[in-house]
Amino acid sequence: MTTTTTGTRTAARVVDAVKVYGAGDTAVRALDGVSVTFPAARFTAVMGPSGSGKSTLLHCAAGLDTLTRGAAWIGDTELGGLDDRRLTLLRRDRVGFVFQAYNLVPTLTVAENITLPLHLAGDGGDPEWIDTLIDVVGLRDRLRHRPAELSGGQRQRVAVARAFAGRPDVVFADEPTGNLDSRSGEEVLGLLGNAVRQTGRTVVMVTHDPVAAAHADEVVFLADGRLVDRMEVPTADAVLDRMKAFEVPS
Ligand SMILES: Nc1ncnc2c1ncn2[C@@H]1O[C@H](COP(=O)(O)OP(=O)(O)O)[C@@H](O)[C@H]1O
Ligand SMILES: [Mg+2]
Repeated sequence: MTTTTTGTRTAARVVDAVKVYGAGDTAVRALDGVSVTFPAARFTAVMGPSGSGKSTLLHCAAGLDTLTRGAAWIGDTELGGLDDRRLTLLRRDRVGFVFQAYNLVPTLTVAENITLPLHLAGDGGDPEWIDTLIDVVGLRDRLRHRPAELSGGQRQRVAVARAFAGRPDVVFADEPTGNLDSRSGEEVLGLLGNAVRQTGRTVVMVTHDPVAAAHADEVVFLADGRLVDRMEVPTADAVLDRMKAFEVPS
């Protein structure tokens, strides 16, 4: 991982990131020159109005999508320099992802969903770590259930366990509480926060909920595909005030 002169390690970053979807008259500039670092062992929230480029930023930073211009790194690895095979390996071994819609495999049990990335990697992972994770997410008594037999909150806790199963350098979560009631949402946010504070993992989470963002160590704000602000030690009220500024043209 990159270490700056201040000793802060960088888990992921993008520099001058531009992402254009489509071409010609219908081209959409989803990212318009974003530079942002996501420090290791920190919980960073990404906020901004709908369509501001949050998901695009996350997908490009995680190697799920490619930038039109600029560069993205996971640790010291520049994603643009990787061929397809190496990019697949990086996504598998160094990045975890949590989606709003859970994206579990319906035919697999909870236990199988959690260890799926490890089996794809051709190893069973670290059994003790997996065992710990199962207790951390509170799914010990649901291991043989299938996703359809679980509540939304339980499904997302499976997805969180899956994301951390391979001990990735960084877990990206795109509106992980977007489909959840507030209590289940708090549980998932607590898991993400504890992963950072108790075990030193790195989490980057998109949300449009100020209460969710207040769980993070820092919030970065996007508007129209640009980084417009950062806020350390966010509170829900301060984040809400900052968001209102986007909605009221001055
Ligand atoms: N696959 C795509 N094809 C074309 N336009 C897209 C695609 N994905 C996103 N966009 C556009 O890019 C902009 C940013 O989208 P997105 O990153 O999903 O924003 P957010 O997550 O902040 O709501 C929007 O204008 C959206 O319509
Ligand atoms: Mg989005």
